[in-house]
Amino acid sequence: MTNDLLALENVSLSFRGLTALSDVSLGIAPGEVVAVIGPNGAGKTSLFNVVCGFYRPRSGTVRWRGADITGKAPHMVARLGIGRSFQNIELFKSLTCLDNLLLGRHLHVKSNVFSAMLSTRGWVRDEVAQRRRAEELMDLLDLQAYRDQRVGALPYGVQKLIEVARALAAEPTLLLLDEPAAGMTVEEKDDMMVTLLRLRRELDLTMLVVEHDLRVVSRLADRVVVLDHGVKIADGPPGAVQDDPAVVRAYLGSTKLAPQAAGPEVAP
Ligand SMILES: Nc1ncnc2c1ncn2[C@@H]1O[C@H](COP(=O)(O)OP(=O)(O)OP(=O)(O)O)[C@@H](O)[C@H]1O
Ligand SMILES: [Mg+2]
Repeated sequence: MTNDLLALENVSLSFRGLTALSDVSLGIAPGEVVAVIGPNGAGKTSLFNVVCGFYRPRSGTVRWRGADITGKAPHMVARLGIGRSFQNIELFKSLTCLDNLLLGRHLHVKSNVFSAMLSTRGWVRDEVAQRRRAEELMDLLDLQAYRDQRVGALPYGVQKLIEVARALAAEPTLLLLDEPAAGMTVEEKDDMMVTLLRLRRELDLTMLVVEHDLRVVSRLADRVVVLDHGVKIADGPPGAVQDDPAVVRAYLGSTKLAPQAAGPEVAP
């Protein structure tokens, strides 16, 4: 028995004969930041979908604090403290930033539709608490300027940040981020990286992050897991993984992970 927060044991998943994950085992200790990298179609998003209960693996076990949670429904998994952001932004584009965060807090809403209709004292107290937390998250992520703006009209980089904030609104212990910096400019990526490192520190988060940009990965992650055609081919510190011949063959080609000094300064 390890003290892993999340553990995958020999997980396999396939779609009509196509293997998306093949015998993948992986553990994440509390407080760790683990990056998942791999070529397109390697199985990174599928791994997230198995953890979150969107897909049931063909075989293998997913454990949360040691307990078997394989195949649990997504809302049950969310209640356990596993939050996620999506590769393709999954916000309500016609709603404001604030409303999206309030929707992200639905797990924590205590009152029901009747108390809402009657505006009972309990409902008002609950509503105030939800709004306060949403405001705190906007402060934390510098989103106050977009508070009342329709999400669909905001720049892509801001939407990506709101997507992270929405995932955080559920107050997860483990945050799964599927390409949080994809499609961003270099400056936006650096900002996102600094933000994620700050969130880790301030919210005591454990994170599993899919990210293609190896410069981001090398500065963000304690450990890197590499998938290729659904198979885990490496798992270790960024420095070791970059020199692994199997990784170089499958993914990196001649590219090396960027040196640690390449990004903005971030306090440990
Ligand atoms: N719902 C699905 N139905 C059928 N095949 C799927 C489904 N989801 C994923 N796949 C297949 O499983 C494999 C892994 O896909 P996945 O999306 O997990 O890869 P990925 O590593 O996230 O890729 P990318 O870097 O492009 O996001 C791919 O071959 C993909 O086509
Ligand atoms: Mg993906």
